Amino acid sequence: SHIPVITIDGPTASGKGTVAAKVAERLGFHLLDSGALYRLTALSSMRAGVSLIDEHAVAQLAEALPARFANGDIFLGEEEVGAVIRAEEVGNNASKIAALPAVRQALYALQLAFRKAPGLVADGRDMGTVIFPNAKLKVFLTASVEARAERRYKQLIDKGISANMEGLLADLQARDERDTHRTVAPLVPAEGAYILDTSDMTVDVAVEQVLHWYSLL
Ligand code: C5P
Repeated sequence: SHIPVITIDGPTASGKGTVAAKVAERLGFHLLDSGALYRLTALSSMRAGVSLIDEHAVAQLAEALPARFANGDIFLGEEEVGAVIRAEEVGNNASKIAALPAVRQALYALQLAFRKAPGLVADGRDMGTVIFPNAKLKVFLTASVEARAERRYKQLIDKGISANMEGLLADLQARDERDTHRTVAPLVPAEGAYILDTSDMTVDVAVEQVLHWYSLL
């Protein structure tokens, strides 16, 4: 397809979601938050009482996922679940079901459908490697696990949720481990990806860097 895609992949809490949303806004592009699809699938499974290792049952839910995105809101059926799917438990379960090949397969076509004119910014783990290998610009956005834990800590405290730094660090490390070492679509920089380490970088500087790379193409 000739419709331009910018992929932004990276580990949990690297800030890629925020950067992707801002880049999309600046360019007037559509946005795909692919992690939300895995989170929605996890939430559906939890609610349906489906075992998270029952690959076939989880994939069936993913295949028929009633997901809808509308101006920053995320719907599962009629219910707005944007805040619900950000919970750590949902994120951890998302990372478990994301290791199931049939689940990834079930979400494949849904993700491709986000590629619409004038362009798309897609963030996740395998946007540049698997879903949009012919993307115009690929970015791998990362940050040290400490910087990411600190950001996650601040986010939770700001939301009035109590948090514990040690626990967050352990959670992030476990999730990195799962995402990096799984056999299907592991988290690795795509070939030709620009690596952006945001450990000591503000969101706005990261956004400018991505836009700058895009402008050079
Ligand atoms: O990015 P986010 O934290 O919302 O993603 C939740 C989980 O979904 C990740 O930990 C990862 O395991 C999975 N995921 C994935 N592939 C993607 C996006 C997310 O495996 N493209």
